Amino acid sequence: MRSLCNKQGSKTICRLCLISLLYVQYVTAQAQYCQKPTDAQTNNPNAPPFPNLPSSFQTRIEAAIIDKNYTMSGEEYFDNPNNQASLSLMRSGAIYKLIFDYANDQLFYVQPDQACVVHNLTNDDNNLLFGLSFIKGLPHVFTTSGVLHFAKKFGEQYIGKTQIRGVYVDHWRTCMYWSAVKANFTLDYYFTDQNWVTAAGWPQIPVRAEVTGVMIQSDGTTYKIHHYYDYTDFRAAVYADHTVFETPSGVVCPGRKQTRMIPQLNQAFIYREEIIGTGGVQEVDVYYDDNYSLLRYDFRPSGQWPYGNNDAAAEIHDFNTGVAYAIDKALQNCSIIPIQNGSFDSTINVTKSLSTNAFVMRMKTPKQIFYLDSNFTFEGQRFARGLLCDVFISNRSDFSLGGFMYAAVLEYYFLAMSQTSANNDGNTNPGGSDIPIQLIVTLPTVPQTITYMFYDFDQENPELTVFDISPCFSGADTISFKLTFYGTYDAPVRVYKQLFLFETLNAVAAATGASPLRITSPQFYFQDDKAFFVATLVDAAPVLAKFKQIPGMVLQNHNDISYTSISSAQDCASYCYTNTNFTCLSFDYCPTSQICSLSRYGQDDGKTLATNAQCSHYLKTINMNSKPEVPLQTAWMNLKNNVTKGAVQITINFPNKNMQYTASDVSNAITTGQSRNPSAVSTLNQFQLLNNKVVPNYDDLILTGLSVDDCAASCVTEDAFVCSSFEYDYNSGTCYLSHIHPDETPKLIKNQNGFDLYIRDYTAKFSKIAGTTVLSNSDTIYQNIYDENQCAKLCVDYNGFNCKSFDFCTDIGTCFLGKTHYYDAPQVNIKSDLLCNHWSRNYMDDFKKKARYQIPLVNNRIVSGIDASQCAKLCVQEETFSCASFNYCGNLTECRLTTNSIKGGQVIAQSNAYCDLYTRQSFPDGTAYTPNPSKYYKTKPTKSGYTGGSMAGLAIGMIILGIIAAFAGLMIYLKVAHKTTDDVAIQFKRHFNDETDG
Ligand SMILES: *[C@@H]1O[C@H](CO)[C@@H](O)[C@H](O)[C@H]1NC(C)=O
Repeated sequence: MRSLCNKQGSKTICRLCLISLLYVQYVTAQAQYCQKPTDAQTNNPNAPPFPNLPSSFQTRIEAAIIDKNYTMSGEEYFDNPNNQASLSLMRSGAIYKLIFDYANDQLFYVQPDQACVVHNLTNDDNNLLFGLSFIKGLPHVFTTSGVLHFAKKFGEQYIGKTQIRGVYVDHWRTCMYWSAVKANFTLDYYFTDQNWVTAAGWPQIPVRAEVTGVMIQSDGTTYKIHHYYDYTDFRAAVYADHTVFETPSGVVCPGRKQTRMIPQLNQAFIYREEIIGTGGVQEVDVYYDDNYSLLRYDFRPSGQWPYGNNDAAAEIHDFNTGVAYAIDKALQNCSIIPIQNGSFDSTINVTKSLSTNAFVMRMKTPKQIFYLDSNFTFEGQRFARGLLCDVFISNRSDFSLGGFMYAAVLEYYFLAMSQTSANNDGNTNPGGSDIPIQLIVTLPTVPQTITYMFYDFDQENPELTVFDISPCFSGADTISFKLTFYGTYDAPVRVYKQLFLFETLNAVAAATGASPLRITSPQFYFQDDKAFFVATLVDAAPVLAKFKQIPGMVLQNHNDISYTSISSAQDCASYCYTNTNFTCLSFDYCPTSQICSLSRYGQDDGKTLATNAQCSHYLKTINMNSKPEVPLQTAWMNLKNNVTKGAVQITINFPNKNMQYTASDVSNAITTGQSRNPSAVSTLNQFQLLNNKVVPNYDDLILTGLSVDDCAASCVTEDAFVCSSFEYDYNSGTCYLSHIHPDETPKLIKNQNGFDLYIRDYTAKFSKIAGTTVLSNSDTIYQNIYDENQCAKLCVDYNGFNCKSFDFCTDIGTCFLGKTHYYDAPQVNIKSDLLCNHWSRNYMDDFKKKARYQIPLVNNRIVSGIDASQCAKLCVQEETFSCASFNYCGNLTECRLTTNSIKGGQVIAQSNAYCDLYTRQSFPDGTAYTPNPSKYYKTKPTKSGYTGGSMAGLAIGMIILGIIAAFAGLMIYLKVAHKTTDDVAIQFKRHFNDETDG
C-alpha cells in the first residue's frame, strides 16, 4: 500500500487511491503473457487526456470472478481531505470490512463474525496485496493505489473508443508487471468518454476494469484468471455518513493504538441523562458529590415503592449513613428508606425495560458509578449526537440490573480531545473534554440494549442546597439556628459568599457531629460588621432506615448476641446500631417471639440466609463501622458548646491572604414559616417599598421560608417589639424584621441588590378626610414633620393619651395629634383647610382579628355585601345592642354582628375556612370595650365649666340637634330595620357626647 502511495507531509495518504476491487491471484511472471506498451503506444497523440479522479468519492463495484464462478459486490469510500478510506465487500451474504486509518497508520479488517485484526499500514503491502490469513477463503483483496497509478507506473496504451453497458468509453490497457510478487497480467480499463455526461457530474469516471492473466498455484500448476469489475453509482464525493469510516459499534480491535486512555472523572459532577430502551426514554438528573458521599437523582417513578404514584421524585442518598430520602416533588412527601441494593435499578424486571427504573449508575467512586473501573479498550472515534467522541469498550460479567448480574458490553463515548465543552456551572472547571456523552450497554443474554445519553455534564460540586432533605423533617424534628461571625465584610469579602456558606456548613457539620445533609436550607448573609449563617438542623434518619429488610429470612449460624422481649424491629435496629461489643452489620427480628439477634456478619450473598416466615433479616446498607448518628438535641448542644468554646471556625482563602472567622454567637431564636397562617397580600399596602435597599445591623427577628406578604404580616402582628420595617431577600426568601423606622434615620439605608426594604406605612391604620382639619386646637403638636406617615407613626406611638386621629398640614410640616375620632369630634372643630388632611383611626383598629375562626352565631344582626372594615364600622355604630364582636365571612361578604365575645369567655371560637373573627377591644375613645350598650348612646352626666370654644360648639350643635330632631324617628326606624346608618345622625350624637367630655 505504502509503496503505492505518495507521501504527504507526516500523514501518508494515497492521493490517487482508487481502491480498486481487483482480485489478483498469484500471478507469476509469464514472460510473454503480456507485453509492456511501447513508448509510441504510451505517447499516442490521438489519446484523450488521462483521467483524473476527485479527491473524495464513493462507488459501488460488482466483481465477476469468472474463473471461480461467483460475484462479489462492494462499496468503496475514499475521503482524501479527511484522511480516511474504507472498503466493504459482500460475498455469499457475508460482509467484510477494511478501514484505513491513515492518521494513526493502521488498517482494520473486520470479519463477518465481528472479529477485528489490526495491521500497520506502512508494513501492510504484502498483507494488503496478498491477503490475510483470516480472509484466506476469499480471493485476495487487491487495493492497488489506483488503476491509474498502475497505469502510470507501467505505462498505459490507448486502445480506442468503445461502448460498455451502453456507455461510450475510452479503452486503455496496461500490461502489469508487479515485481514484488513477480506477477504480470493484462489490465483493461474503461473510463467514460470526455463527452459523456456522467451522473456524478465528474468527467471521465471508471466504468469497468478487466483482468486477464495466469497464475501458478502452490502445487506448480498454472491457473488462468479472468475478472470483471463494473463500477456503478460513482459519485464525486462521499455521500454516506461517517460511520463507513468507523469500526463497527461493539467491535474490539486487539492491538489498536490506544490514542487515549479512559478519562478520569472528578469527585463531584452534575449531569442530566436520557435512558433509552425498547419502551422509550426516561430522563434523570444526577448530582453527585463524592467528597460528601451524597447523591441526588431526580426521576419519575412508575408507582413503585416507596413512591406509589407517578409524581416526579427526587431521591437523595446519604452514603455516610446508608439512608435514602425519597421525596415526592409534587406533594413534598418524603419517605426515609434504606438505600436499595443495586440502588437505582432496584425492583426492576429487566425485560420490562423502561417502564421501570433501569439505571446504570451506582453511588460508588466516580470510576465505579460510571463503570470506568472496567478494563476498557479504545474503540476508536465515532460520532454521537454529532459530536466526535473517543469510544471505549469493555466486556463485564457483573453488570447489575434489577438485583441480578448480567454479562454486558459497555461502550463509552467520551468527547474527543479535539472538541471542547463549555459548561454553565461554577467557575473552577470550564469544561474540558473528559465529558461522557453516551454509554451503550448491551446485555447479549437478555437480550437488551440500553443507551444512556449524558447531557450538561459538569465536573462541578453540586450546590449544597441541592441535597435538601428538609421535606423529610418538620416541627420538633428541626432546630433552626443563626450563627454570627463578627468581622469586616466589605464588598470584596462579600464576593466569597458561596465559600463562606460552604466552609461554615462544613464547620457546623463537624461541630454538631451530624452529616452535612442534616444542615438544611443553609444561607449566609453579610452586614457591615457581622455575618450570619442561618440553617435548620434536622434530626437523624430513623435507625431502621439504615437496614435493608429481607422478609421471611433469617441468618444461619452467625448470631453473636440475642435479646428477648424486644417489641419492635426499630428497637432491635437500635441495639445493632449502638452495639459496642462488636460491629453489628445485620440482625434478625422475629415479631412473634420478640427475639432480636445481632450479627457481625453482613454479607448479602444469598447463601447464609434460611427461610423463616416469622422473621425478617435486616442488613446494614452501609457495610462499615459507621458511628451512630447524633440525635437532634445532642447535635444542637454540641453546636452550642462548640460555639461557646470558639471552636466553630472557618478559614477563607482570599487571593492574597487567609482569614479566619470564628462564630461567636449561636441562637435558635428564629422561627421558620412552617405553620403560618396564610395572609393577604393587602398587608403589603401598609408598607412603603424601597427596592434594593437594606438597613444593616438592625435585625430584631429573622424569619425564613416566608413569602414577602407573609413577611409583612409577621411585621404587622409582631408582639415582642414594634416592627417598623422589614427587609426581604428574594433569593433566599428570608425576612428580616426590625424596630427601626428608616424614615427617621434615612442615612442608615444602604444599597443592596436582591433585597427590598419595606417601611411600614402608619397611615394604613387611618382613614383620610382630605382638605380638613379637626385638631387645630390640639395642644399635642409636632413640627418639622415632613410626611403623613411620620405623623401617623407619632400618633400610633404616642403615650400621652390614646391617639385616635391626627391632622397633617403639608405646608407648615405640622402634625397635630388628637384624642378623638373624626366621627366623635365636635362639629365646630371640623374645618376646611386645603393644605391639611385629617386622619382618623380605622374602626377596624378597635378590633383584634382571629383569622379562620368564627363564634357561634347569635344573630343580632347580619349584613351582606360589605367589606370587613365597613362591618367594623357597623359594629361600632350599632345602637340597638352592644356589639362585642363580629364574624366576617369573605365567601358570602357577610357581616355578622353579635353581643357574644371570646374575650369574656362567653363563647369559644370555632375554626371556619371562610370566616374571620373580630373581637372588639376598645371604644373609639380608646377606653377598653365593655359590653355596655349605654356607654355611647345614653346621655352622660354633663360636666360643668364649658370653655368659650366649646360653648360655641355646643351652640352650633344645639342648632343641628334642632334640625335633626324632626328626623329622629325616621332614623331610629331605619336602624332597627337594619338599613344603612346615617353618619349625620351619629355625628350629632357623638358631637353632643364629646362636647360634654371636652
Ligand atoms: C464454473 O461453471 C462452469 C459452467 O457450469 C463449469 O464448467 C466450471 O467447471 C465451473 N468452474 C469452477 C471452478 O467451478
